[in-house]
Amino acid sequence: MNTLDTLEVVPTGAALGAEVHGLDLALPVSDAIAQTLRDAWYEHLVLLFRGQDLGDDAIMRTADIFGGSQGSGAHSYFNRNAAAFNPHRVEGYPEILAVTNLDENGDPTLDNGGLGSHEVVWHSDNSYVEVPPAGSLLCAIDVPIGGGGHTSFNNQYLAYETLPAELTRAIEGRHQVHDSSRNSAGVPRPGVKLPEKPEDVEGPTHPIVRVHPHTGRCALYLGRRRAWPSNYVVGLPDNESEALLDALWAHATRPEFAWEHVWRDGDAVLWDNRCAMHYRTPIDPSRRRVMHRIQIAGEPVIAPW
Ligand code: SIN
Repeated sequence: MNTLDTLEVVPTGAALGAEVHGLDLALPVSDAIAQTLRDAWYEHLVLLFRGQDLGDDAIMRTADIFGGSQGSGAHSYFNRNAAAFNPHRVEGYPEILAVTNLDENGDPTLDNGGLGSHEVVWHSDNSYVEVPPAGSLLCAIDVPIGGGGHTSFNNQYLAYETLPAELTRAIEGRHQVHDSSRNSAGVPRPGVKLPEKPEDVEGPTHPIVRVHPHTGRCALYLGRRRAWPSNYVVGLPDNESEALLDALWAHATRPEFAWEHVWRDGDAVLWDNRCAMHYRTPIDPSRRRVMHRIQIAGEPVIAPW
């Protein structure tokens, strides 16, 4: 049985992240425990639960603690390309995605049309949809110890709060178009034509700073960075947009804002896409890596201006 008495939230000591001890997410979670977990998530941005044995039903129930799953409905870019974006659906669980480096025969490979074994650049999940998911829960089923695939997270509240004054001024009131043409491993989405000029870039427009609906704090919201033409700042000449994004990214990805997680089977990690980005090191393509991921329902992005 889960009880508040045995629950312990232990910060990583880095700029974000905490490990939750004394909780079995496969067992019922009371309202009081659920509230404690949500508060811990808002405070630490990333929560790590080790030693979990979560089937897909338990993954769905865990998502409910944090706001429920982001279905595949209502979000235009995701919806239109849902099949192409997600070649690794889990049978019977349309909300859950198998994040794997396996091919159609179940063998590890470099490229499987999804993230495969590739390095995954710093990003915030699905910033290329109108209503991005609030968070993501990734559960390790079979991970290659010593085979790479470590996932880092960084604190975008801190990135915003420590911006040099001239950059804070430069982004005030500014919005960015978020390019939906490639996944976070840089693989073009099937059937999508890559942009050749800014006007070709398809994706929503979001403020460069967003307000977290639960904490009220402001965070940098950059999405992801790709070679031009890709994301751009609305209303600036191309060269100024590029220079501003380069400066923001150099700051946002400073190592002191980050914490790296080295996975073990049974780890479940929940992160907050509204105030944290994540990055994955490449995986040895000869080693299996299988995870299940669910996304937490989001809300429209709130601008501070
Ligand atoms: C992701 O970027 O969502 C995948 C992270 C990972 O595979 O560790």
